[in-house]
Amino acid sequence: MAHVFVTTQAFPDAIRRLTEHGHDVHTTEKALMPREELLNGVEQAEALVCLLADRVDEELFDRAPHLRVVANLGVGVDNIDVGVATQRGIAVTNTPDVLTETTADLGWALLMAAARRIVEADVHLREHGFPGWTFIPPHLGVDVFGATLGVVGAGRIGSAVARRAVGFSMPVLYCARTDKPELERAVGARRASLDQILTESDFVVLCVPLTEDTHHLIGRRELARMKDTAVLVNIARGPVVDEEALVEALRAGRPRTAALDVFEREPEVHPGLLPMRNVVVTPHIGSATEATRKKMAHLAVDGVLAILSGRQPANLVNREVPLGGV
Ligand code: NAP
Ligand code: GLV
Repeated sequence: MAHVFVTTQAFPDAIRRLTEHGHDVHTTEKALMPREELLNGVEQAEALVCLLADRVDEELFDRAPHLRVVANLGVGVDNIDVGVATQRGIAVTNTPDVLTETTADLGWALLMAAARRIVEADVHLREHGFPGWTFIPPHLGVDVFGATLGVVGAGRIGSAVARRAVGFSMPVLYCARTDKPELERAVGARRASLDQILTESDFVVLCVPLTEDTHHLIGRRELARMKDTAVLVNIARGPVVDEEALVEALRAGRPRTAALDVFEREPEVHPGLLPMRNVVVTPHIGSATEATRKKMAHLAVDGVLAILSGRQPANLVNREVPLGGV
């Protein structure tokens, strides 16, 4: 029997699978656990099921001497010091694949909302009523059909975003660290440099993980390369974009607008963004459908059960961790 510490409300079916395996599970009713409660709670934990809002770092590992596995309820693991976990023989798991299509859908929802000014038009109608059809309404948008889509980070989610462009007859440019011949065949996508993507795309969708290489990948210089009609969509991680530079760029009208699901200092949103009615903002809900969140919870539990019984789960992030030692 192992002590499993869960830092959030999770789906009861998924949690029950842990207790059915005889594990002692500590959960919480809180949606977000304060840091101090997390640090105090992990002393006995052999498994930690956590959120990407939980910082899992050396300080936490020092407080959790029995920890064998950290199961992140998300695919991005930038909240976890994976290097230190590996050194200490602690397995890290994430939730890839099950959230790919849901997150790509949100990327498109943001893209469409920004292009056709859906949120602005909705708010305007509620506040001012519908005065009747006019030829030049206050919310003229830009076309999506036939426009050029630039995907920055053509992995699972980026490829799913690109696949959706076929129905809109959009030429697709992508960048990644490696070639994606499958994507090129399936979608007619063309690999391009980041600079080319920025200068040629009407819609730029960010889908890279947050790493040392991608921190502020989009800064002042990059924003200045974008078309003044372009839309920047960020469904990756906030710090991939220099938010201060983005606010300045939006004020200057290049890019024309942005649609953001993630922010540089979550849960804080840059105060300069909020008064910009043309900017669409959502509170990091890329994977937030009931079906997908359930799948994520079950996948996290799969990983914990595997590690606690000495097996290698498919969603192990640090494959170099010695499983004998966990
Ligand atoms: P993935 O399959 O690993 O894809 C990441 C892609 O980024 C890969 O194509 C990778 O290239 C590329 N890449 C990495 N470093 C790069 C760099 N320096 N320059 C250009 N491309 C680079 O991951 P995923 O499952 O698609 O998830 C991507 C990220 O989305 C996650 O890490 C997470 O941060 C974010 N996410 C956000 C939400 C949300 O709620 N908004 C939901 C889920 C995920 P290679 O293929 O060549 O290695
Ligand atoms: C969400 O942001 C995730 O990384 O799954």
